[in-house]
Amino acid sequence: MSKLLHIQSSPNLDGSITRTLSDEFVATWAASHPETEVETLDLARDPVPHWGPDAIRGFMTVEGQRTPAGQAAVDLSEKLIQQVEAAKILVIGCPMYNMSMPTQLKSWIDHLTRAGRTFKFTGQGQYKGLIWNKKAFVILSRGGDYSAPPASAADFQEPLLRANLGLIGITDVTFIRAEGQRLQEAPTYIEKARETIAWIAG
Ligand SMILES: Cc1cc2nc3c(=O)[nH]c(=O)nc-3n(C[C@H](O)[C@H](O)[C@H](O)COP(=O)(O)O)c2cc1C
Repeated sequence: MSKLLHIQSSPNLDGSITRTLSDEFVATWAASHPETEVETLDLARDPVPHWGPDAIRGFMTVEGQRTPAGQAAVDLSEKLIQQVEAAKILVIGCPMYNMSMPTQLKSWIDHLTRAGRTFKFTGQGQYKGLIWNKKAFVILSRGGDYSAPPASAADFQEPLLRANLGLIGITDVTFIRAEGQRLQEAPTYIEKARETIAWIAG
């Protein structure tokens, strides 16, 4: 069995583009890779809490000296990291919110990103990711079309996701984009995304 972890992050539970397309990706992948075991993490239905003072203190305190709340925050982080480590394939559905990603997804990434656990510093401003051998597919959607300048300069969704995943070692990342969902051409962009999904996952 090969585990595929499907992460949904759109808070829109009624007709979300990224939910629909990433579901289609996972169904197509599972049909063409029958050994796949799918696990879903729905960050809108089951959100990861934002870091608060307890979590920060917990992360910055060594084992054995943490408060119960600090230990609980580290335990949650550990559970989420191990869920990623157990998977071979990650499929992430991500709408653009205010030029970046929904807070639900950012909070999950924050819990995965722990110095000494999922990455280590190797020199001045240098780091090494410690989660290896993963393949990630990110299905993005946004209201505008950010595929070319000048709009691409305001795309803090794809570059940030690439940098965040890269920091912890997930460097093999393919982005599938449904651009322009608030534009007239939205159906054409969906069609293009579907063709890409069929090509990659089929
Ligand atoms: C709160 C909110 C913020 C958004 N911010 C942006 C944005 O900054 N740029 C953009 O092009 N679209 C923006 N959109 C549009 C969504 O990215 C777009 O509708 C996307 O297809 C939603 O994906 P979903 O249907 O999977 O939730 C925003 C939508 C919402 C609800």
